[in-house]
Amino acid sequence: MQKDVDINKVARQHLQMDEFFTGGFLIKGQKVMQEQSEPKESIINSSVELEKVADEVLRCSKCGLGSSRTNTVPGEGNPNARIMFIGEAPGADEDAQGRPFVGRAGKLLDKIITACGLKRSDVFIGNILKCRPPENRDPTAEEIISCLPYLQRQIEIINPEIIVALGAHAARTLLNTNKSIGQMRGQFHEYYAGLGKPPIKLMATYHTAYLLRNYSHENRQRVWEDMKKVLAELGLPIPEPGKK
Ligand code: URA
Repeated sequence: MQKDVDINKVARQHLQMDEFFTGGFLIKGQKVMQEQSEPKESIINSSVELEKVADEVLRCSKCGLGSSRTNTVPGEGNPNARIMFIGEAPGADEDAQGRPFVGRAGKLLDKIITACGLKRSDVFIGNILKCRPPENRDPTAEEIISCLPYLQRQIEIINPEIIVALGAHAARTLLNTNKSIGQMRGQFHEYYAGLGKPPIKLMATYHTAYLLRNYSHENRQRVWEDMKKVLAELGLPIPEPGKK
C-alpha cells in the first residue's frame, strides 16, 4: 500500500518527541549535542525531508530489488545526528521489519553505540541499498547507482559531522575507491556532498557482520580505536575501556 506524507502529522509528532530533539549526546547527565541551540524548525524541516525520501524509497522500483523486497529500509535516527552509520544493505531481519541493523549485526552495532556513551536515537543509521539483495548477495553496480541518490540526499539533509562507513562496500561507494577496508579503516577520509559544500569526515571501520565472523580481541580493539577517533573528533568524552 502506498503511503502519502502528512507533513503536518510528521511535524506534530516530532514536536512532541522532546527527547528525540534534545536528547542529543547525553553523557553522564551532560548535554553535549552541538545543535542544542538549533531552532526546532530546522529539525522539523530535516524530519519532513527525511520522510519524503523514505516515501520515495517506499514507491521505488528503479531496480529488480523492488520486486523481491518485503519492506524498504530507508534508515532511521536523529534528523540532526552528528554521526551517521552507513552499512551495505538490509539483511533478512531488516527486510522483515523495515528497519536498519536490527539483526545480529545490528545488536553488535547497538553495543558499539552504547560503548561510545551514545544512544541509537542520537545517531542516524542507514545503508547504501534500501532493499535487501536476495540471499544477502553483494550489491550490484546497477543497484548501487540506482539507490545511492537516496543516501546522498539523506546525508545532505542531516549534514552530519562524521560518517562512519561500516565495511568495504559502504566505504568504497562513499569514497569512490577500490581500496580494501584494511587500507581505509582507522583514518579519516573526506566525503564530498557536492560542489561548493565542505567535505564531511568519514571514518571507515569493519562491518559488524564481519566482526561477528571474526570476533577476535584484535578486531574488536581496532573498531574501538576507530570509534575513539570519532568521539575525539567530535569533542565527546571517551568512556573508559572497562566501562564500554
Ligand atoms: N547489514 C547491513 O549492512 N545493513 C543492515 O541494515 C543490516 C546488516
